[in-house]
Amino acid sequence: MAKDYTKYFVKPSIKDARKRKSTDTATIDFNEYFTIKGFGKGKTYKIETFGCQGNEADTEKIRGILEALDFTESEKLEHADLILLNTCAIRENAENRVFGELGRLKKYKRNNPELILGVCGCMPQEEKVVDHILKKIPHVDLVFGTHNIYKLPEYLETVILSKERVIEVFSEEGSIIENMPKIRESTRKAWVSIMYGCDEFCTYCIVPYTRGKERSRDKDHIIHEIKELIKLGYKEVTLLGQNVNSYGRDFTDKKYTFSNLLEELNTLEIERIRFTTSHPKDFDLETVKVLAKKGNLMPYIHLPVQSGSNEVLKKMNRKYTKEDYLELVANIYKYIPNASLTTDIIVGFPGETDEQFEETLDLVRKCRFEGAYTFVFSAREGTPAAKFEDNMSLDEKKQRLYKLNKIVNDGYQVGTNRFEGKIVKVLVDGVSKNNDSIIAGYTENNKLVNFKGDKSLIGTIVEVEVTEAKTWHMIGKLVE
Ligand code: SAH
Ligand code: SF4
Ligand code: F3S
Repeated sequence: MAKDYTKYFVKPSIKDARKRKSTDTATIDFNEYFTIKGFGKGKTYKIETFGCQGNEADTEKIRGILEALDFTESEKLEHADLILLNTCAIRENAENRVFGELGRLKKYKRNNPELILGVCGCMPQEEKVVDHILKKIPHVDLVFGTHNIYKLPEYLETVILSKERVIEVFSEEGSIIENMPKIRESTRKAWVSIMYGCDEFCTYCIVPYTRGKERSRDKDHIIHEIKELIKLGYKEVTLLGQNVNSYGRDFTDKKYTFSNLLEELNTLEIERIRFTTSHPKDFDLETVKVLAKKGNLMPYIHLPVQSGSNEVLKKMNRKYTKEDYLELVANIYKYIPNASLTTDIIVGFPGETDEQFEETLDLVRKCRFEGAYTFVFSAREGTPAAKFEDNMSLDEKKQRLYKLNKIVNDGYQVGTNRFEGKIVKVLVDGVSKNNDSIIAGYTENNKLVNFKGDKSLIGTIVEVEVTEAKTWHMIGKLVE
């Protein structure tokens, strides 16, 4: 394969990615770009996805584009003609997994020199990653970022037909691209992005640099997408955004907020609506009250707190205090007594003292979280926190994580215990891995339930009596 990049060679810059333009975001129809077709005929692909739900939603678009180009999905990774790694940059270990995988894939490339290996998603948005690929990983043929998925047909045409390498990563976001084809993972549950990017700039976080400025999708496009999903038999939609509560903040021509959107979606004939991620700073009482009306709005809220110390929250640039957070949680339980809350917490943020860590533990006990994703702080190059003084050893940080997780696990157990003996509604996802007479699915509060039942129930919502609460899931009996 030729080694030069005559057509596409654009590297990213974290510095440029920090810039925010005040201009409105335009919306463009994907079909305007999609002119070259058919050259995937007879070829197979495989995508490995490493990131968050937004990253998974991007994979569904990439699959959609590839299949529109007549590629088909390969059963096995080693037989694919095209392998794409859709990557995540959130923590160092996420990146290490990708580099490990790229090392492992080298042998496939040796066995099949025609294999096209591509890297996309959040990692290529970092200049250090692109530089590393250029210097050290010559078997990568294609690199693109989060802002130019729609150009994949041209890139593949260049890589496959002209046998030329492509590296093109834009630092700044472009227009919102509507009508990209999608091949969804599930036929019952769907991701629907309501916005892209993030303007929060929490000091530890790389996302505002890898995903660009916050841009809300037009509500009519969101509603249209959900109506199409209803026609296809979808039962559940999860609205996606890095801070869904700030949905609509960028509209200059109208006032339309997240609570307005929820209210409107509550009138649609879809059984379940979920959303992620919520930012405590922008989660207003209006939204709590709309959720309290229930209907198809599920009583489950993922509300990342990150820390229970006001000093740490300030250094993280979270823009709320522990008191604000506790007040919001109190309001959620007041208006939605049955709500299940989960959270994200970072331990070992630079300079976090023992007392500050204890404050986090205290807050966790107070909030009755029924689950939490807990992380050790990971310095991300280019973010402010990477430069903060940090004297604590990784060992000490891991001890904090261990201590926190013990309390968090108690919360999971309390969260399942409270449903013992109750009848819950379950959207059946599939059969259990170990026993195919057991089926499984999630309750309205997002708890996994296993129970005896026929495969024909997959995709339907059934009533189940919870007979036993385990820590991570529940066991039940179908109500006939
Ligand atoms: N937009 C969401 C979450 C995005 S990332 C929000 O604001 O909550 C998911 C989680 O990863 C974050 O909530 C945070 O807990 C964690 N995270 C992000 N950057 C991190 C870092 N540098 N080190 C450790 N954890 C991090
Ligand atoms: Fe990262 Fe903060 Fe944006 Fe979440 S809100 S994506 S943690 S910068
Ligand atoms: Fe990871 Fe990018 Fe999502 S960094 S968490 S894949 S937005």
